[in-house]
Order: sequence, then C-alpha cells, then structure tokens
Amino acid sequence: MIPQTPCPERIEINEVGPRDGLQIEKRFVPTPDKIRWINALSQTGLARIEATSFTSPKAIPNLADASEVVNGIKRRDGVEITVLVPNLKGAERALACQVDELNLVMSASDSHGLANLRMTPEQSIERFGDILDVARENSVFVNASLSTTFGCPFEGEVPQKRVLELIEQLVALGIQGVTLCDTTGMANPAQVKALCEAVIARWPGTAFTLHVHNTRGMGLANALAAWQAGITRFDSALGGLGGCPFAPGATGNVCTEDLVHMFEAMGVDTGVDLDALLEVAATLPELVGHDVPGQVIKAGKWDRRYPMPSR
Ligand code: COA
Ligand code: ZN
Repeated sequence: MIPQTPCPERIEINEVGPRDGLQIEKRFVPTPDKIRWINALSQTGLARIEATSFTSPKAIPNLADASEVVNGIKRRDGVEITVLVPNLKGAERALACQVDELNLVMSASDSHGLANLRMTPEQSIERFGDILDVARENSVFVNASLSTTFGCPFEGEVPQKRVLELIEQLVALGIQGVTLCDTTGMANPAQVKALCEAVIARWPGTAFTLHVHNTRGMGLANALAAWQAGITRFDSALGGLGGCPFAPGATGNVCTEDLVHMFEAMGVDTGVDLDALLEVAATLPELVGHDVPGQVIKAGKWDRRYPMPSR
C-alpha cells in the first residue's frame, strides 16, 4: 500500500468504467466489446480495473454477462481485477471467476440503500460477515464501497458521525479497504478533505479510496482535496462515463484521463501511460454509441502547442 501521507508522490488508479460506466448506459455493450476494452485498459498501467458487477441481472441488465466478461479477459500481472458485489450470491459468482478483489457495495443512507439494494446499511453489514468468510477461504482482498458518503439524493446531508460509525463496523468485521463514494456529486473539497483526514488518522491500516462523480463539476477539485489529505487510491471512469441507476440525477464519474492528466502535470506518479490511455479513450464514443464528457481528449494535453496564425 502506498503510504497515506499528505500530498503523496505516487497514487493508484482504479478504472471503474466497465462497471460504473456501463451500468447506466441505455444500450447493452456486447460481451466481446467489453472484453476487448478491458484488455486494452489493462495495458495502460492502471493498478486495478473494476471489470463488472455480480448483481441481479434484473437490477443491472447491462452487466448480466459478468462471468463471461471476467472469464474472457486476459489477466495481466500488476493489474488487479475487482468486481462490485451486493450479496453472498454475487460473491460466490465472482469467486468462481477467480477475481483478485471483491468490492462489497452498501449505502451510508437508509433511503439510497433501500432504493439501490433493498437493504439498509445495517442489513448490508449484517450480510457482509458471510461474504468475508468465503473471501478468506479464497484469499481475496475485500473492499467495501460506501455509497452516498458525502450526501444522499433523497435525504441530503449524511452526517460525518454516521459515516464514521459505519466504517468502524466495517473495519471491525475485517474489511481491508473502504471506498468513500460521492454517488451523485454532492461533495465539496472542504468536506472531502475533512473526512479523508479523519479516516486516515483513525484507521491508518485501512486502504481508503475516493470515488467521486463530476455531476456538479467538482470531481477533480474533490480528488485534489483527497490527495492533499493523503488519499492514494482513486476510482475514475474512462471518458467520464458512469452513474448509479438508482440515484436520481446521477451522472458520470470523474474522468480517468482527465484525472491522470492533472496528477501527471503536477508531477504525481499515477503509473499510467497517458498517451496509451488516451488512445483507448478515443475508442469510447464508438463503444457506447455517443459522445462522452472527457475534456483532455478534446483539448489535448497541457503542453499542446498551436502554430502562430500566418498573416
Ligand atoms: N447475482 C445474480 N442474481 C441475483 C443476485 C446476484 N448477486 N442476487 C440476487 N439475485 C437474484 C435471485 O436469485 C433472485 O432470482 P429469481 O427471481 O430468479 O429467484 C432475484 O435476484 C431476487 O433475489 P433477492 O435476494 O430477493 O434480491 P432483491 O430482489 O431483493 O435484490 C439485490 C437485491 C442487491 C440483488 C439487487 O437490488 C441488486 O443486484 N442491486 C444492485 C444495484 C447496483 O448494482 N447498483 C449500482 C451500483 S451502486
Ligand atoms: Zn459511482
């Protein structure tokens, strides 16, 4: 784990496009296209790829091919394959495909938990015990993603105290990593910095990840605030795809190539080959059938120069 100290020199990117990105798309992306995309992503230096989710195919029809996708991709040393899992059934399906990590999903607010998973936070945590048992038998890393950590589209503010109580329970269960998710882009940089500083100070042995959506244009600012607090692990989606289908008003994640571009321009090592990543990003509009919000792909990198106009 990269040390969680303020303004770390190195960070890791977890690409969630194949999961968070595709779950909300109108169109089902054919399985071979998903596999080709993930294989291309795994050659760009990303630390981790969230390849799919093992959820109910009725809830998330776009990812009903989860097993075929994970079994079909080429595994590469140094690139961990993680998947989102809401319950024991999902964990068992995922472990049968030899994933490297389970990313258990729950909500920090009751109403989003019920809308998304039909479970309150307490009900989710109660079920995580059985999942941890099977995960331990298979020696996989177990992370928990806490949706609506920075605000809930139904309830509004989620008190920091409530978030800390839930993380306390997750750590006590034996969860190794916790992702703080801003599901509908409600977070602001001051709030992100305060929470990240608090969790790193209280649980130095837990791997914390920031997962932000750019719904209100604060995605990169929030990522920067988390980095200043010492966060070294970031979720992002290529092209800025993404969104939770059960959170009204949800839009895309912070865009991976824009995030990598920002950190690399600042001299922070992301491990990612930005040119290679931009080549994969250029294939996205065809893959999903529409334009995507990424900005660097359109503007070019910061050092792009134009010829002087001739008179
Ligand atoms: N994988 C595949 N099928 C699953 C499943 C899983 N992980 N979990 C449940 N199912 C199936 C059950 O087998 C059952 O099938 P049947 O109707 O053919 O008998 C059906 O789904 C209902 O099962 P139940 O346990 O009653 O689940 P539910 O209807 O209460 O739904 C969840 C709960 C968590 C499974 C569902 O809400 C879900 O998958 N949500 C995911 C939400 C999500 O990914 N949101 C975006 C990410 S934040
Ligand atoms: Zn998300």
